[in-house]
Amino acid sequence: ELGPYAHFMQKEIHEQPRALTDTLEAIIDDNAFSPALFGAEAATVFNEVDSILILAAGTSYYAGLTAKYWLEGIAQLPTSVEIASEYRYRKSVPNPRQLIITISQSGETLDTMEALKHAKSLGQHLTLAICNVQESAIPRASRLVLYTRAGAEIGVASTKAFTTQLVALFTLAATFAKQRGLLSQQEEQAYIDELRHLPGSVQYALNLEPQIREWAKAFSNKYHALFLGRGMHYPIALEGALKLKEISYIHAEAYPAGELKHGPLALVDKNMPVVVIAPNDALLEKVKSNMQEVSARGGELFVFADADSNFTASEGVHVIRTPRHVGVLSPILHTIPVQLLAYHAALLKGTDVDKPRNLAKSVTVE
Ligand code: M6R
Repeated sequence: ELGPYAHFMQKEIHEQPRALTDTLEAIIDDNAFSPALFGAEAATVFNEVDSILILAAGTSYYAGLTAKYWLEGIAQLPTSVEIASEYRYRKSVPNPRQLIITISQSGETLDTMEALKHAKSLGQHLTLAICNVQESAIPRASRLVLYTRAGAEIGVASTKAFTTQLVALFTLAATFAKQRGLLSQQEEQAYIDELRHLPGSVQYALNLEPQIREWAKAFSNKYHALFLGRGMHYPIALEGALKLKEISYIHAEAYPAGELKHGPLALVDKNMPVVVIAPNDALLEKVKSNMQEVSARGGELFVFADADSNFTASEGVHVIRTPRHVGVLSPILHTIPVQLLAYHAALLKGTDVDKPRNLAKSVTVE
């Protein structure tokens, strides 16, 4: 069942080109973004929507944080993202025109299910589930559904579920943009082309595994690590830190790189490796100056940089080149190296990668 792989996690990381291709099949075949993908009622429901609230837990929450950049940036829909277990226990201001999006790999996470019920009890009835398991509890309780087609995910650490959630959410943002008259036909075609090329770029990133395995040696004997990203790559830094914590038990934190000087810079020394997600986007120069702040304090940097940026390695600065910048889909691509880094650090530590201590695949208790 594992084929050439040592663990389900490794297998599932490598299945991502296929999982993305399957999830994108309908869009690529239609060569268009269409509300029908989200259910028969979707075109009507989407017309009522004036804003979005995303509710989820763990890695699925980070998918939501990433989606906010797309939903606001492309579709101009005000979007809030909240941890499901927080939302259900506070007084919020219900808005019946707000679309409640739940994101869940399993579709059975109790916190997310209860948050959805709470939203509905407040009169919020525009609901959409992004889910990987057919006919599970959360999609059954939602009006609209988009199923990701990652296939069964067995490793406790979510990998292919996350990247397929991201393409589903990007598709949603593009669909809204189109319906709201914000996407020209040319732009629609350009996005679909980018989606079509994504699985190939992901495969390229997977081929970096031998280099990333080498880097993992610098993490497996450390107690702490810091992950930095900016803009839509900040949630990917969060995801990288969660993966490392969850399976290697190394304490890891993520920060938006611009926040360094507001506190975490005090932690930086040679014993805390700093991972930087540094795509070749509008924020690259800002990220570079944040990196200098780390270097000046003796911190060791491990940089994932796009092939088309002019990064060079130097003393204390290690660089791995990811594929050339893939524009607005870049967070999906930059997820692959942080998954592999966590996996190989855990292997070196000898932890139970597929079943980390104290954790369950599907959290159906509070
Ligand atoms: O099945 P869900 O997507 O609702 O699960 C949510 C979290 O429990 C899950 O993403 C968890 O954080 C993963 N183990 C992270 O790798």
